[in-house]
Amino acid sequence: MGSPNQTTDISELVEALNLLRDEAERDLPQASSEQDLEQLRVAFLGKKGKLSGVLRMMGKLPKDARPEAGKVANGVRDRINGLLTENAQRLEDAKMAAALQERIDVTLPGRAPLSGGQHILNQTRDLILDVLKGLGFEMARGPEVEHDFYNFEALNIPEEHPARDMQDTFYIADRVVLRTHTSPVQIRSMMSAKTPPLRVACFGRVYRHDHDVTHSPMFHQIEGLFVDKNVSMADLKGTLEIFTQKIFDDEAKVRLRPSFFPFTEPSVEVDISCFACKGAGCRLCSHTGWIEIMGAGMVDPEVFKMSGYDPEECTGFAFGIGVERVAMLRHGISDIRLFFENDLRFLKQF
Ligand code: DAH
Repeated sequence: MGSPNQTTDISELVEALNLLRDEAERDLPQASSEQDLEQLRVAFLGKKGKLSGVLRMMGKLPKDARPEAGKVANGVRDRINGLLTENAQRLEDAKMAAALQERIDVTLPGRAPLSGGQHILNQTRDLILDVLKGLGFEMARGPEVEHDFYNFEALNIPEEHPARDMQDTFYIADRVVLRTHTSPVQIRSMMSAKTPPLRVACFGRVYRHDHDVTHSPMFHQIEGLFVDKNVSMADLKGTLEIFTQKIFDDEAKVRLRPSFFPFTEPSVEVDISCFACKGAGCRLCSHTGWIEIMGAGMVDPEVFKMSGYDPEECTGFAFGIGVERVAMLRHGISDIRLFFENDLRFLKQF
């Protein structure tokens, strides 16, 4: 043994190191925050910390004992570092668990994903077109910006004809209009299919300078046209009966009232027996038992001539129906503007 002031016993050093390790094993698991843990790290491993303090005793060891002491010291440092990592993870986990506890109320109802749906007018369009397809009609289309010839002239509405007043026309240019009805598609279909039979239906936007609770400057029509040899008014009535029964009411009856359209002769307004009161009279049918739903008629010979068909050879019927009107009747909607305001509270009802 050397002088007590000069040298340190290795067992003393090892004991000091072990005590330090025990202390760390006791203190670090008590740390309750990241700041706590950081303070402990500095206290144990910092430059002026406890480990450095003990290691200062190393200088006083005999040279040959130092490697052994160094090994024990490194072991203790590793152990303390391990404890720091372990406890940092413990605090992190606790923080996460607390955050989850705070935010998740598993008793809350789930959030339903927003689901889109078809606009009621598209649903109505599909309903009508499906029925017409079932009756053998092919789908046709025409332009919304239309030439005067197709929109008026070929439909037997020459310039200066008073019937032009019935259709509040938007003019785009001289003799170019926003189509006021889907009837021009009749002309276009006949001109492109040179020979009958022809059975076409057309859905599309139409435009009129008119607006109130039942009229909108833009609305939708569906046009039907059937041309063949010997087509009669009875065929028109039978077709409309099946059509209205599928769309409004299995038991609907059809009534044809004389009317006037320049492109049909004879022309009719089509009424159906009220599906709400079965004809007894109610508010929907203004206590008449009948509801007007569309215009129709037998194709005028002049229209055939202008479309290149021989009126001696063929006959045909046509009809035009407002899609908004059908939707309003079927769903009890009283204001046409609701269709175009895109208020989800309205649209979601269908
Ligand atoms: N085009 C007419 C309108 O918009 C509706 C109509 C009436 C169409 C009789 C037809 C028809 O095809 O035959 O008011």
